[in-house]
Amino acid sequence: MDETRGRITRDGIRIYEAEDFAGMRAAGRVAAQILDEVAPLVQVGATTEALDAFIEQRVGELGAVSATIGYKGYKHASCISVNHVVCHGIPGPKVLKDGDILNIDVTVILDGWFGDTSRMYVAGALARKSERLIQVTHDALFKGIAAVAPGNTFGDIGHAIQSFVEANRMSVVRDFCGHGLGRVFHAPPNVLHYGRAGTGPVLEEGMIFTIEPMVNLGRPETKVLADDWTAVTRDKSLSAQFEHSVGVTATGCEIFTLSPAGKFHPTWG
Ligand code: MF3
Ligand code: CO
Ligand code: CO
Repeated sequence: MDETRGRITRDGIRIYEAEDFAGMRAAGRVAAQILDEVAPLVQVGATTEALDAFIEQRVGELGAVSATIGYKGYKHASCISVNHVVCHGIPGPKVLKDGDILNIDVTVILDGWFGDTSRMYVAGALARKSERLIQVTHDALFKGIAAVAPGNTFGDIGHAIQSFVEANRMSVVRDFCGHGLGRVFHAPPNVLHYGRAGTGPVLEEGMIFTIEPMVNLGRPETKVLADDWTAVTRDKSLSAQFEHSVGVTATGCEIFTLSPAGKFHPTWG
């Protein structure tokens, strides 16, 4: 892209154009398709490194490049966050057991555009409290997405998510946020998943960013383990996350990372 084209708002947020949205659509679709394809591999007895190996292979086969391999020294094509891991779980020899819930987060680069999405999976049987956490987290993401329209603010998005989650007696993680993206992985603004309506930068047509709420059954505090990546809940409570990459349109928003197979939620087949 010609970086002199388009403009940057006072808040440092890039405004993209129609052909840029086409690039995001293609990149987002690849990331979402890979999350569809990995679903049947999420089984009791599978290792998270086997899931990651499949993801890395499919990224290449689909003509994309992993955005996470080599990012700040990270070595894997996905983050896989099991049970009380909030985000940035590192794939490894860990074997999934019955009832484990996990977030798989994939970011690809296709033709220079970044597609970033994550969703929840279960190995074996989904326990009732896990299902409730996953449902509330999923619905919280869509409450945030419903607040995306020109003239609304980023605070409106955070407020929509936080008020819904807390009404369901769960907590929103404060230590990690969504982010602008496009031709880069992480750009302004920080997209907070909590906040006050009417605060923060005003949304404009052409903005592109992720919304990726992390929700805990217990308290919101997290800590990062000695590997410098894995973030866990301090109280060891279960955590869930869903992520979409979206763009602001004239009337609302376009979701670039919808599941081509309609499998975004673990109970949807
Ligand atoms: N995909 C994550 C996000 O949603 C970032 C992962 S960075 C990594 O922003 F290095 F941990 F992979
Ligand atoms: Co992201
Ligand atoms: Co992500």
